[in-house]
Amino acid sequence: MEEISPGLENVYIKYTDLTFIDGNKGIMRYRGYDVNELAEKSSFEEASYLLLFGNIPSKEELKDFKNKISENLALPPYIHEIIKNAPENADALGIMQTALSALSETYINYQWKRDNDLKLIPKILGNTLSIVSNIYRIKNKLPIKDPVFDKNYATTFLKACFDKDVGEERSMAMDSALILYMDHEIPASTTSAIVTASTLSDMYSSLTSAIAALRGPLHGGAAESAYKQFEEIGYPDNVETWFNKNILQGKKRLVGFGHRVYRTYDPRLKTFKKYADELAETENQKKMLEIAKKLEGLGVKNFGSKGIYTNTDFYSGLVFNEIGFPLYMFTTLFGLSRISGILAHIMEYVETQERLIRPRAIYKGPGEKKYMQVD
Ligand code: ACO
Repeated sequence: MEEISPGLENVYIKYTDLTFIDGNKGIMRYRGYDVNELAEKSSFEEASYLLLFGNIPSKEELKDFKNKISENLALPPYIHEIIKNAPENADALGIMQTALSALSETYINYQWKRDNDLKLIPKILGNTLSIVSNIYRIKNKLPIKDPVFDKNYATTFLKACFDKDVGEERSMAMDSALILYMDHEIPASTTSAIVTASTLSDMYSSLTSAIAALRGPLHGGAAESAYKQFEEIGYPDNVETWFNKNILQGKKRLVGFGHRVYRTYDPRLKTFKKYADELAETENQKKMLEIAKKLEGLGVKNFGSKGIYTNTDFYSGLVFNEIGFPLYMFTTLFGLSRISGILAHIMEYVETQERLIRPRAIYKGPGEKKYMQVD
C-alpha cells in the first residue's frame, strides 16, 4: 500500500558534501567549518568559494575570484529597464525573481558541465549584487547605477545601495549575515531549484524557482514577519499580554520560533543576536530589541520543552534594520545571501547525481465518469 510523506519530511533526495546540520545539538558547518567561525573570521567571497569550489581559497584564488565578480557588476541595459519599470508597489523579491528570470533567456540550452558552471558563478554573483542594490535604489528614488567593487562583496553591496560608507561594523554585520544565510542544506527554496535543475533547465531558471519558494512566511519571509510581530506588540510592557492573548490561546504562531530540523537553538542565532545588540542605536531599535528579548524568554519558557526554540529569523530582521534596510528588503537580502548555496547544491546534484525528480501522487478522486456535453 502506497503512503505519502507530507512535507517530504525525512525524505533524502541527494548526498552532499556542502552543509552539515545536527538539529539536536544545534551544529551547522560548511564543508566541515563551523558557520559562526566563518561568519566571524572569513568573508562572503571566501565562504562562497569554499562551498562552490570545494576549498578555502588561497590568496591568489581569492584575488582572482573577487576580480571576476567585480568584472560582472554591470548589468545588461534590458535588466536596468526591468528594474526601472517595475510598478512602485512591486515586491522587491518579485523584481529580483523577474530580473534573474530574464537573464535566463541568454542561457537557453545551457550545457551543464563543471567548467561551464564554474565560469558562470562570478557572473551570477556580480549580477545579483547589482540587481538587489538597484532594487533598493529604485525603491528609494535613486538612479540605477552599476556598482563599483570596493574591498569586499558586502561593502560593495552596501555602498551600491546607500551611496556612502556605513562604517566597518555595519559592513562586517552584512558580511556575516551573507555568510550565515548562504546555505542551509536543502530547505524548500533550494529543493525547488534542484527540482528545476534536475530537468536540465539552466542555472538562472533554477534560481528563479528557489526565489519563488523563499518568499513564503514559513521560510524566507519569516524575518519580515518576525519584525512585524515586534511592531505589532509595540512596547516591551505589552509583550506578556500579547503573548498570552495570541500565542498561548493558539491564535497565532510565534514567528522566529520552531524549525523543521532544529530541536534546539538555531546555531546561527548567536551571531545575529550579537550584532542586534551591538548595532542598536536609535530609540526604536533599542525598543525593538527589548521586545524581542522579552518575547524570546517567554517563547523558550513555554515551547522549549517541545523542542521549539528561537530560529535565526527572530533576530536577523533587527540586524538588517540596524544596518539601514527597510522591512520590504529583508527577504531579498536573504535571497542575495542564498545564491551561492543554491548554486553549489544544483551543481552538486546535476554534476554528480543527476536524475529527473518526478515524485508521484496517490489518486483519491472520483472513479470513471461519463462526459456529457453541456447542450
Ligand atoms: N509557534 C507555536 N507553535 C509552534 C511553532 C511556533 N513558531 N512552530 C511549531 N509549533 C508547534 C505546532 O503548533 C505543532 O504543535 P502540535 O503538534 O501541538 O500541533 C508542532 O509545534 C509541530 O509544528 P509543525 O508545523 O508540524 O512543524 P514544522 O516542522 O512543519 O514547523 C515551521 C516548522 C514551519 C518553521 C514552524 O516552526 C513555524 O511555523 N514557525 C514559525 C515561522 C518561522 O519562524 N519560520 C522560519 C523558519 S526558519 C527559515 O526558514 C530560515
